[in-house]
Amino acid sequence: MKILVIGATGTIGAAVSEALDGRHEVIRASLSRSALAVDLADPESIKRLYASVGTVDAVVGAAGKAAFGPLLALSDEDFALCLTNKLMGQVNLVRFGVDALADRGSFTLTSGFLSRFPTPGSAAISLVNAGLEGFVRAAALDLPRGLRINAVAPGWVHETLVALKRDPSTGAPAARVAQAYVKSVEGGMTGQIEDVVGSQGT
Ligand SMILES: NC(=O)c1ccc[n+]([C@@H]2O[C@H](COP(=O)([O-])OP(=O)(O)OC[C@H]3O[C@@H](n4cnc5c(N)ncnc54)[C@H](OP(=O)(O)O)[C@@H]3O)[C@@H](O)[C@H]2O)c1
Repeated sequence: MKILVIGATGTIGAAVSEALDGRHEVIRASLSRSALAVDLADPESIKRLYASVGTVDAVVGAAGKAAFGPLLALSDEDFALCLTNKLMGQVNLVRFGVDALADRGSFTLTSGFLSRFPTPGSAAISLVNAGLEGFVRAAALDLPRGLRINAVAPGWVHETLVALKRDPSTGAPAARVAQAYVKSVEGGMTGQIEDVVGSQGT
């Protein structure tokens, strides 16, 4: 399969690209550190990306910025960032990507465990993640030509906790998170949200 991975330089996207590489042709895209540049927050940039890659068999969205902070401290700009970047950026990957996908191709988006298991400070990101999961379930009913769509909902990733200098023992290794994306790309599921959590359920 020819697979387009957006966010391929990130903690999750790099692990997904590595897991798919070898068995598939992986096309890596990201904001600034890949050969192929795309800005999820800019619809025209997404359209240009699809025009440049031609037909693909799968699209993986593993990018998207969101704001974290106490509800009453979140600004209009924080909410706008979440909505235009992680939420509508990934929704637009689907809207503008349908014609680029081969029959029975798939989209795999990234939400997050905070959609259904919030913590203090997660109001904006929980909003976005829950919105993405609702979108995936509904879009699966509408997509033509046998196209599939799923989301992976990671909890904390081990490598991210290490980078944040937090206790990494509760995180799932990126390589294990990547297997949920592989399952979505290579399997037959659609409309599904695949949770991947660490050993203590976070
Ligand atoms: N890591 C976690 O613990 C965790 C847990 C749950 C959910 N998630 C979700 O998983 C996704 C990826 O997380 P991550 O930790 O792998 O992120 P990361 O390590 O910070 O990497 C971010 C990736 O997204 C790309 N990117 C950033 N802004 C972009 C934009 N506007 N348009 C296109 N690409 C953009 C970056 O590209 P460049 O390198 O080129 O800048 C990079 O490839 C995020 O949506 C995050 O909310 C992460």
